[in-house]
Amino acid sequence: MMRRLLSRLARAKDSLTTRSLGLEDRFHTAIIRHTNNFGSTTWLGRPIWQNVFDLWVIQETIAEIKPDLLVETGTNRGGSSLFYAHLFDLMGHGQIITVDVQKLHDLSHPRVTYLIGDSAGEAVLGTVRRRAAEVTGPVMVILDSDHSEAHVRRELEAYAPLVTPGSFLMVQDGVIDVLPMLAADCPGPLPAINDFLLQHPEYELDVERCRRFLITHHPKGWLRRKPGS
Ligand SMILES: C[S@@+](CC[C@H](N)C(=O)[O-])C[C@H]1O[C@@H](n2cnc3c(N)ncnc32)[C@H](O)[C@@H]1O
Repeated sequence: MMRRLLSRLARAKDSLTTRSLGLEDRFHTAIIRHTNNFGSTTWLGRPIWQNVFDLWVIQETIAEIKPDLLVETGTNRGGSSLFYAHLFDLMGHGQIITVDVQKLHDLSHPRVTYLIGDSAGEAVLGTVRRRAAEVTGPVMVILDSDHSEAHVRRELEAYAPLVTPGSFLMVQDGVIDVLPMLAADCPGPLPAINDFLLQHPEYELDVERCRRFLITHHPKGWLRRKPGS
């Protein structure tokens, strides 16, 4: 009962109809328009579909956590997994599994395993669980596939147990539920994140990481698994 009420309150707070756009949201809207939502951003010439502020926070987090394994759902044209692989090359450590329902690139990298399939399907999850069980160090997860509320709910439940205490389950693109210009894709990740946090006390929101550069595609996106949980 109390959880349902808290969930409704969080939903109302995030709702596009109850919020007025502040300066940050208006600036963010202008950046998205100007960059075609970062649609032509590249990493060493390869398309990477990321807000560059957020990419920097991911870089800082990877350097801090030093994951043995980073799991990314949503490979797309491969630029983000290549970016993470190059960071791992510089650190001399780490492997990546990236998942997509379709192959949209011709990339290969010794640190990256490319899986094709539904990120919330048993075939993919079986492989990812086996790989996560093989490593002894931190496991970090970035969810960047289908951003619908329903799919994000499935991914959160499936991938949360794989994240090691102290590491992160990062949920991308909650901005869908914030900016009116993206409302066609609502409901997106935010209601799924709100409910997940209510139901999983082993996770907490890292507000500082979410607010690092103010302009972010991932409001409430940085979920830390509490150390010792
Ligand atoms: C936003 S793009 C990923 C962008 C990429 N991470 C980057 O930064 O360049 C989302 C991708 O998720 C894939 N996708 C959609 N539904 C999926 C699902 N159920 N399982 C796995 N991938 C999915 C799409 O094919 C698309 O390539």
